[in-house]
Order: sequence, then structure tokens, then C-alpha cells
Amino acid sequence: MMRLLITGGSGYLGSHLIAAARDPFELFATYYSRPIPDGVPLDVRDADSVRRLFDSLRPDCVIHTAYDKSSDGWQAVIGDGSANVAQAARQVGARLIHLSTDVVFSGARGWYCEDDPPDPVTDYGRVKVEAEQRVAACLPDALLVRTSLIYGTLRDAADANSRFVLDGLLGHTPVTLFQDEFRCPICVTDLAAALLELAALPFDRLMVRGPLHVAGAERVSRYQFGVLLARYHGLDPRPLQATTSEATGLIRPKDCTLDTTRAQALLRTRLRGVGEVLR
Ligand SMILES: NC(=O)c1ccc[n+]([C@@H]2O[C@H](COP(=O)([O-])OP(=O)(O)OC[C@H]3O[C@@H](n4cnc5c(N)ncnc54)[C@H](OP(=O)(O)O)[C@@H]3O)[C@@H](O)[C@H]2O)c1
Repeated sequence: MMRLLITGGSGYLGSHLIAAARDPFELFATYYSRPIPDGVPLDVRDADSVRRLFDSLRPDCVIHTAYDKSSDGWQAVIGDGSANVAQAARQVGARLIHLSTDVVFSGARGWYCEDDPPDPVTDYGRVKVEAEQRVAACLPDALLVRTSLIYGTLRDAADANSRFVLDGLLGHTPVTLFQDEFRCPICVTDLAAALLELAALPFDRLMVRGPLHVAGAERVSRYQFGVLLARYHGLDPRPLQATTSEATGLIRPKDCTLDTTRAQALLRTRLRGVGEVLR
């Protein structure tokens, strides 16, 4: 059995990882403020606690999903917390799969591959780049899995990307979505399966380290994504309003589509496009 530790087990991705993990894993999962069955409390900002937990559990592999969406938590949880996790993984000789994001890129070009240098334009993107760099500096063999908008097919309160659209339509409140921001949304079950497949790959077969792009196969604008979600859930998409980053005057990452050729060559899990999932 492989001892697998999931940080952020109470989160959206973490809960799907727990639900999908089967043999060959002996599973351990952490939470921060929302307890889960058999979960272990952990604050990744506390380096000593992280080290003690890793010492007692001795994981073979760690999937680090924990993060804090609020800007207050970015530096301490994402920057320092990820470094604490990498340090503790190194001390116990665990492999680390660290979750990162497509907004490490500016979005000026699109279809980014792993060799493209990060050039974030938001504070969140910058701290996720910092986390990647601190993880890689501590643990050069760590996998830095960059993904895109995560969504599911259920009306799940934890699915923030779908909830934003569906709650607006159901509550008859205006939902405005960007027409000039492109992403490769990934279904949470596909992402969980891909991460577990990566975790199970034997060391010598895992020929990649560093960044790996794991996202859905189809490029859509945030507006198109909203329309697909609405239709899938039987709602009229016409109240969705389209706007552009240009019109708002905001500096936002526009085309952060990810080239997933490397991951597709490595994985059996299909990284389905959003049109296929929300058909
Ligand atoms: N969601 C997306 O669309 C998306 C897109 C691209 C990349 N990602 C990446 O995917 C990963 C997972 O995202 P998600 O949507 O599953 O996140 P999520 O649902 O917000 O879950 C975050 C998790 O982190 C935990 N956490 C918060 N503060 C913590 C702390 N100080 N110490 C330890 N744990 C803490 C939370 O615990 P409690 O709930 O118990 O407080 C929760 O389990 C993140 O790294 C994110 O950057 C997500």
C-alpha cells in the first residue's frame, strides 16, 4: 500500500480526491476549519505542526491542494504554507504533487506549455508562482500541477465556479461574465483521477518533474462556460451578461489556456473538454 496524504481534504478538489482514492492507497487527509471524517487538523502556516504530522504519518506521496482564496491568506498559506509542506515532504522522503494554477501566466498569448516562463499579472498569480518556486527549490523532483477552472456536474455548494453562475440565474441576480478571458475548465472527477494516477506512478516511470499542465481539452471563454453550465442544469442562459476585460479597464489574465500535450502522453485518464462533459 502507498501512504497518500492529501492536504485540503475538506476542500472541493480534496474531497473528490478522497472519494476517488482506492487501492493502492492508504489514505490520510487534512482539514483546516471544517472537520472531515478521519481527517487530521492542520494549519500549513505552522511549520512545526506540518513537520510533526509528516513525521508521524510518514507518507510516500503528498497531494498538496490546501490554499486560501482570500487575499489575507495568500502569502502565509500559499507562499509560506507550500514551502512548509515541501520542507516536511523532503524530510520524510515523500513525493510531492503541488497544485498550481493557469494564472501563473499573464494570458497575453494562450496555449502555454510547461517551458513557458510564468509572467503573472495578478497578486494571486504572483504568490502561486512564488509557491511553485519555493517548492521546486526545496524539492526539485516535486510535480507542480497547473490546472484551470475546476467544476463538476452536480449542484455542489463547494463548486464555486458553477455556483457563481447557477446561483445568479436561480436568484435572478445579474451575472456578468468575460467574453475575452479564455480558460480550459476541467471536471473535478477528471482532475482527481489524473492526480491519483500521477501519485500511483512508480518513481522510475514518472519521467516528469516540475510543471505539468493538467486541464480540460477545450478552450472556452468564461461567458461560453457560463452558457454551457446553465444549459446543462436546465436553465435559460439568456440572462447571463457578457462583458470584456477591456470594458472594465481591469488588468486581468485573458487567455490562460494550457497546452496539456505532456500530461496527455503520460496519463490514461482523459482530460475531457467542457463541451463533452456538459453535453
Ligand atoms: N478551484 C479552482 O477553480 C482552481 C483553479 C486552478 C487551481 N486551483 C488550485 O487547486 C487547489 C485546490 O482548490 P480547491 O478549489 O479545491 O480549494 P478549496 O475548495 O477552497 O479548498 C481549500 C482547502 O484548503 C484548506 N485550508 C485553508 N486554509 C488552510 C490552512 N491555513 N492550512 C491548511 N489547510 C487550509 C481548506 O480547509 P477548510 O475548508 O477545512 O478550512 C480546504 O480544505 C488550490 O491549490 C488552487 O490554487 C483551483
